[in-house]
Amino acid sequence: MIEFKNVNFKYGEDIALNNVNLKISEGESIAFLGLNGSGKTSLFQMINGLLMPNDGYVSVDGMRTDEEEKLWEIRKKVGMIFQNPESQIVGTTVEEDIAFGMENIGVPRVEMVKRVDEVLRFVDMEDLKKAEPYHLSGGQKQLLCVASILAMKPKYVIMDEPTSMIDPIGRERILATMNDMNKMGKTLMFSTHILDEIVVSKRVVYLRNGEIVFDGKPMEIMKKVKEEFGTSDFIEFQYRLYRHGFIKHFMKPDELSERLRELCR
Ligand SMILES: Nc1ncnc2c1ncn2[C@@H]1O[C@H](COP(=O)(O)OP(=O)(O)O)[C@@H](O)[C@H]1O
Ligand SMILES: [Mg+2]
Repeated sequence: MIEFKNVNFKYGEDIALNNVNLKISEGESIAFLGLNGSGKTSLFQMINGLLMPNDGYVSVDGMRTDEEEKLWEIRKKVGMIFQNPESQIVGTTVEEDIAFGMENIGVPRVEMVKRVDEVLRFVDMEDLKKAEPYHLSGGQKQLLCVASILAMKPKYVIMDEPTSMIDPIGRERILATMNDMNKMGKTLMFSTHILDEIVVSKRVVYLRNGEIVFDGKPMEIMKKVKEEFGTSDFIEFQYRLYRHGFIKHFMKPDELSERLRELCR
């Protein structure tokens, strides 16, 4: 479990997180929704100790991030994928990039070779093993970061605005891959400022000015976000179906069309 207990954080005078309390259990998939500057990145960087709270604490499986001797263990458990995939790619080929992180945590050679193939299969990029990351599309770069992180077998995976830098096709792939990761048992936290993306999670944490102003089921956030965050046709349509009792929760487009077909029978 990951826990935030009364966490406050400031950059100089700027409040970035204001009394954050949060518990994240194993196996969850949580969307952190918020406008720019609401504190999503700061919150994520607290989890693997890149930032430390001014007050309160953050713990990962009982280990507090302010216990320096625990940081190594925490960072092995928490895989972080930054908003800009390019900032995270270090290898000159795809396979080298994936190997790099594993080398850092001392994965044996034979095991490394096996895992490279495993994670490339997972993101469906086996044919790009020898490719130079520089030549990949934005979406492929993001998937490479996913592969490199998964190769280190983290328990928790954090993705900071994973779709913000890529085109719509890449975006679908990333969202599908996130879903697959959660299904394979990873606890997933991702941030977004796109309301449509909350349909891939069962829990939404909504941040405004560094405060958690909502934490609950995606459908229940609708009253809260409408005026202050804006909505979309896709979400609004589903919300109306929900209020009329036709659906019980948000769905992805394919699930929704299947449900509509059922209703029309
Ligand atoms: N490196 C920084 N230096 C100073 N202020 C920062 C820095 N990073 C973020 N902030 C401020 O902290 C607040 C939260 O930012 P951030 O966590 O980046 O939010 P988000 O990821 O939701 O856009 C904002 O007011 C932002 O201006
Ligand atoms: Mg951010």
